[in-house]
Amino acid sequence: MSKVAEIFETLEYGPSPEAPGPAFDWLDAHGRKFGHFIDGEFTKPGKTFASTNPANGEKLADISEAGKGDVDKAVKAARSAFSGWSGLSGFERAKYLYAIARQIQKESRLLAVLETLDNGKPIRETRDIDIPLVARHFYHHAGWAQHIDKSFPDHVPYGVCGQIIPWNFPLLMLAWKIAPALAAGNTVVLKPAEFTSLTALLFAEICARIGLPKGVVNIVTGAGETGEAIVSHPDIDKIAFTGSTEVGKIIRRATAGSGKGLSLELGGKSPFVVFEDADLDSAVEGLVDAIWFNQGQVCCAGSRLLVQESIEERFIAKVKTRMKTLRTGDPLDKSIDIGALVAPVQVERVMDLLKAGRAEGGEFYSPEGDMPEKGCYVRPTLVTGISPAHSLASEEIFGPVLVAMSFRTPEEAVALANNTKYGLAASVWTENVNLALDIAPKIKAGVVWVNSTNQFDAAVGFGGYRESGFGREGGKEGMGAYLKPIWEKKLKAASPIKLPAPSGKTDHTGIDRTAKLYIGGKQARPDSGYAMPVTGSDGKHLGEVGEGNRKDIRNAVEAARGALGWSSTTAHNRAQILYYLGENLDARKAEFTDRIRAMTGVSASAAKREVDQSVERLFAFGGWADKYDGAVHNPPARMMAVAMVEPIGVLALAAPTESPLLGAIAMLAPAIAMGNTTVLVPSTPYPLAMTDFYQVLETSDVPSGVVNIVTGDAPALAKVLAEHDGVDGIWFAGSLEDSTEIERRSAGNVKQSWTTRGLAYDWSDPVMEGGYLLGKATQIKNIWVPYGA
Ligand code: NAI
Repeated sequence: MSKVAEIFETLEYGPSPEAPGPAFDWLDAHGRKFGHFIDGEFTKPGKTFASTNPANGEKLADISEAGKGDVDKAVKAARSAFSGWSGLSGFERAKYLYAIARQIQKESRLLAVLETLDNGKPIRETRDIDIPLVARHFYHHAGWAQHIDKSFPDHVPYGVCGQIIPWNFPLLMLAWKIAPALAAGNTVVLKPAEFTSLTALLFAEICARIGLPKGVVNIVTGAGETGEAIVSHPDIDKIAFTGSTEVGKIIRRATAGSGKGLSLELGGKSPFVVFEDADLDSAVEGLVDAIWFNQGQVCCAGSRLLVQESIEERFIAKVKTRMKTLRTGDPLDKSIDIGALVAPVQVERVMDLLKAGRAEGGEFYSPEGDMPEKGCYVRPTLVTGISPAHSLASEEIFGPVLVAMSFRTPEEAVALANNTKYGLAASVWTENVNLALDIAPKIKAGVVWVNSTNQFDAAVGFGGYRESGFGREGGKEGMGAYLKPIWEKKLKAASPIKLPAPSGKTDHTGIDRTAKLYIGGKQARPDSGYAMPVTGSDGKHLGEVGEGNRKDIRNAVEAARGALGWSSTTAHNRAQILYYLGENLDARKAEFTDRIRAMTGVSASAAKREVDQSVERLFAFGGWADKYDGAVHNPPARMMAVAMVEPIGVLALAAPTESPLLGAIAMLAPAIAMGNTTVLVPSTPYPLAMTDFYQVLETSDVPSGVVNIVTGDAPALAKVLAEHDGVDGIWFAGSLEDSTEIERRSAGNVKQSWTTRGLAYDWSDPVMEGGYLLGKATQIKNIWVPYGA
């Protein structure tokens, strides 16, 4: 036996494995074969597939594959449980969520071991991170169940939610989905990923044990086809998905026009930015956590190291030294750093990406040392000497592979950080608080960690910008994603607007004018050179407007992108400009009243009311510009999380035909108040109120490019906008058919879209004057800042 002093000399490694016995006992108790959990009971196993332990390839259990029929049964159970569950008081629902949280804590060891066996991630992570966060999520949302009525007045749950989750954080993703859904009063049908169903099934058992009413939680297992059956089920009211961007786009297309709520939490290629004044040793530890946590199979993994050139060499040397001490091996070993990837197919995927990457050049570094002989292990890898165009620098690898690049100035760091189609998270390391807080808002990502990484909490929203998806999980915004305003649920189909046939006569009361387009602060001729006639309610020819096409849309989007600096003007400044617009519109009330009347044939008083309401709306959002604020959260860590309200970017707005002035202003005002720049398409038959509006814009100090207006065939132009990668979000008022097409086309770059789907929205209703549209015009970024010396 060696003496203690000798042990300290050699510090030889000795494994410290967690006992898997209780987890195997649990599997045995179920005959190692599982059905689905529907209506409070496990079904008889049907057609099955194997779930294996990726650390050694051994089979753990047989899992049933749900077909359409099983999904249908689960949806029916959820539907019949809905009225009872949503009808309970918040306190009653809170008690159930609290009971779940308690059980998770009691079963935490079993859950942690089972998760590690099924997924391959180190027990240190499941025990200290995944499962404690699961319990925290249920506790936090038990609280929400009781407070929703006060925090979200006049809101109701969606109904039945279909939830599809990935394999990288199996139980944690389940908690992120189920806890807020249940707190709000929804019932759920959840599908775990095919590689990792076991903890979801143990969770189902916990639901039964605490007496959760039957049908409130239903778990169906299976692969992509089961997911498709959930997505396409007509009696599901909302889909929440976490997984690859590719499948996220498929789901966006599949749900287009269905009216289902949708939240997508997708992939990422998150930057880890290290400035020269950072505490380098802390940054190295942070980096290890950013990219090698869960073998790099993390949607927000800090997979792109951006390091300031002056410290590049020193920092990379430190990283390599640290990599040598990372221990890869049996995930049940409590002193292991890197476990197994989830499945052989993932190893293959990572290896293929690495192979393709090697062919493109770069230097590849992996520490030497023992690796387990079998199992899904991949050595941690660092790739240097590459440019942003390299495939490994742009594609999500979802494995233990870090790429490094350097920058010289903070501006260059921001440009590199944003040089990605994704926008999930970022980590910024510097001892200079001014620099950190200057950079954080400039990075296009839903979460920014200052001098830290991978911080998560139930009280703080998480979710992406751009192709990382939309919607948030956690925080008030995550809670709101499971609720709907009551009035929206009651909307009826709009009655068609009868348009007059042209009489062939011309209205000679004014000077004949052909309105141009309005792009980049100037009136511009349409590319086609064509104009479209506008017919008045009496059939007379009222005038002409330019017939915009694809090229005009491109120019308008370019102008809007060029004006994005609008988001960094002060909110006070934006407010002043909205007031000024209101003032100048009011000054021309008579003219606009006549115009609306001539186009639509409404009474003089109705037309005047529409102008008055438009002025009021501009004032209302001027008022909101500096009041629709964020929050500061208090997560359990010694950090504050600053929830900042940020604009979406370039918003495309296709205005409604009814209320041709108010409808357009109702969209424009909240969009620009929040700092978005816009491309607005006025209604096809009644565009003249908005072409008259050019002069109001020109006299109101609106910076050029903030508002661009393209007239023409509105649905056709909106479809071009929906496909345009330079557009970040789209609002469309029109028929169900066109709305469906817009939503389908918006999948290309995962735009946030809001369409009216042929429903009769009342643009004059006060509900359109506040949070409803402000929420759609913004996205929340959470910036985590540590405190304490
Ligand atoms: P995936 O996106 O295919 O799987 C996620 C979930 O969606 C699973 O439950 C799966 O069964 C389900 N699914 C698959 N096709 C579906 C469809 N057509 N309709 C509805 N549901 C469907 O991810 P996969 O194939 O497991 O992993 C591939 C890559 O995706 C990874 O290498 C990684 O790059 C990325 N990924 C990203 C995640 C994230 O959190 N951002 C999570 C998982 C994977």
